[in-house]
Amino acid sequence: IEIYFQALSGVLPRMPFDHADLERDALAALPPELRTYVAGGSGDEATQRANVEAFQRWAVVPRMLTRSAERDLSVELFGKTLPTPLMMAPVGVIGLCTPDGHGDIATAQASAQTGVPMIASTLMNDPLEDVVAHTGDTPSYFQLYTPKDRDLAASLVQRAEQAGYDGIVVTLDTWLPGWRPRDLASGNFPQLRNKALANYSSDPVFQAMTGPDPDPGTVVLTWAGTFGNPLSWDDLAWLRSLTDLPLLLKGICHPDDAKRALDNGVDGIYCSNHGGRQANGGGSALQWLPDVVAAADGAPVIFDSGVRSGADVVKALALGATAVAIGRPYVYGLALGGVPGAVHVLRSLLAEADLIMAVDGYPTVADLVPDTLRRVL
Ligand code: FNR
Repeated sequence: IEIYFQALSGVLPRMPFDHADLERDALAALPPELRTYVAGGSGDEATQRANVEAFQRWAVVPRMLTRSAERDLSVELFGKTLPTPLMMAPVGVIGLCTPDGHGDIATAQASAQTGVPMIASTLMNDPLEDVVAHTGDTPSYFQLYTPKDRDLAASLVQRAEQAGYDGIVVTLDTWLPGWRPRDLASGNFPQLRNKALANYSSDPVFQAMTGPDPDPGTVVLTWAGTFGNPLSWDDLAWLRSLTDLPLLLKGICHPDDAKRALDNGVDGIYCSNHGGRQANGGGSALQWLPDVVAAADGAPVIFDSGVRSGADVVKALALGATAVAIGRPYVYGLALGGVPGAVHVLRSLLAEADLIMAVDGYPTVADLVPDTLRRVL
């Protein structure tokens, strides 16, 4: 309504509301070396497309006379109340997506303004301490790419704990990069250009590995030498021992893996196929969600991969997600409009989700259950 009223006096929004328009404009705004990196995926990108298309196979059934004039979109996550079920997925290059190189801090500011938690990537352009200092009252999470060096892993987690993050998300599916033809063709890999490595260069354990005042080449080679620990179940007890914060595993898509993780002391599951950037050919992440939720047996399940609209958020919640994260959409908002751009994308998704819940008669997130949906294709 606010937007329609502004239009009456000739003020039209600067930012697109439709995802395709947002992507087009944001990619035009981004420097060429980042376009393929942000937009692309693995292989022929069939998995990336499947992630998005999977949501069209579900329809929300309208219910009437449900007192949905008042809505409550809040959810509980690890003892904290979040005002909405939306989260920002960890994205390693957001630091580079604003012209000043401080896109991680801009994302933290968008998080503070909206109450939408940021999951801060290990691969940031500013140190994790500086980033979390801008998240205000909004909870935030630190995403760990587990280094081969265990002391460095422990140092990153301890720094995140001390800096005030509310949980640790360990990403399991990216100990090596996926086969990404668009990046291969453009020869692009930001970290190899010494980008987004601030959490390493600011770390005392890493500094001991490089020696004092390392040149950029040494930083990159040292980073490349320790990045990517192909973890196994045997490492779980060690990971668990690193922190008392809630621990989540990202990339879990099989119910047996979800159950085994939770049986071994993990606090939550993050069901995701990395937005189709890692393995191609696996189909949508959404199709795995219901079984993962069943196996999680009440433990929190965060979902991402392919969420492009408020309708998608509603559907993932109805399929059992505790909270729903977006990756590329908020990055596009950031690239196009900095902090207000990211806020615009988050608020637009939430407004659409809220309106669907209003019109279709689901006043709270708890009302969104599997019976809310019907399979249509
Ligand atoms: C990612 N993702 C990611 N995940 C992670 O755990 N750590 C990271 O550093 C990154 N980096 C990253 C960079 C870029 C450019 C993208 C697009 C994604 C994956 C991310 O957290 C999330 O799983 C996907 O982005 C979700 O899919 P959508 O919403 O982009 O379709």
